[in-house]
Amino acid sequence: MKFIVRNTDAKDVPSILDFLNPIIESRKYSAITDPLETIELSEWIDEVSKSGISLTAVKKSDDKAVGIQLTERFSKYNDSLKHVAEIGTFVSFSHQGLGIGKKLFDETVKISKQLGYSKLIAIIRSDNPDAISFYKSLGFRIVGVLKKHILIDKEYLDEILCEILI
Ligand SMILES: CC(C)(COP(=O)(O)OP(=O)(O)OC[C@H]1O[C@@H](n2cnc3c(N)ncnc32)[C@H](O)[C@@H]1OP(=O)(O)O)[C@@H](O)C(=O)NCCC(=O)NCCS
Repeated sequence: MKFIVRNTDAKDVPSILDFLNPIIESRKYSAITDPLETIELSEWIDEVSKSGISLTAVKKSDDKAVGIQLTERFSKYNDSLKHVAEIGTFVSFSHQGLGIGKKLFDETVKISKQLGYSKLIAIIRSDNPDAISFYKSLGFRIVGVLKKHILIDKEYLDEILCEILI
């Protein structure tokens, strides 16, 4: 199967929701706990795209989205942090392990540098070892544990803070 990575387009939103909401609804992988509506995802993508990067991986055969990577400025108000961006990645359950996350990341790094970013951080649930392995495989290093960082189903969970200098 062939995939293309490109900027997210408004027309991608329905097919992104098709794979993103099952990931969210599983409540196992993300700090996001409620399924997104079309308007919420559209606004999020628009907001990210103002100073960051929203990339979508689509199948070459039918242009349907199978992965998204959002990279947004870490602090919009603090100039001393304007070189730092936070990244998040979601790949459809049925297309994981095919190199899509890595392909998105290669493009994200290229554009991040063009936009003046020199450091990316990822914050990952501590009970998501696959995502931690994914980011480590891209060159991120674990720099700390954010204790009791999220509250899901009345249980506090730690998150892992990772960084990479690009
Ligand atoms: C984590 C996720 C983004 C990885 O995307 P992907 O397209 O499946 O990853 P890739 O195929 O590009 O894998 C790249 C490398 O990451 C590592 N990796 C990816 N998935 C892995 C897994 N399940 N277990 C261990 N290592 C893994 C491997 O080193 C892999 O390289 P290899 O295939 O040569 O061994 C994807 O599985 C996903 O969307 N998971 C659910 C949502 C999530 O957890 N997102 C992260 C929240 S920030």
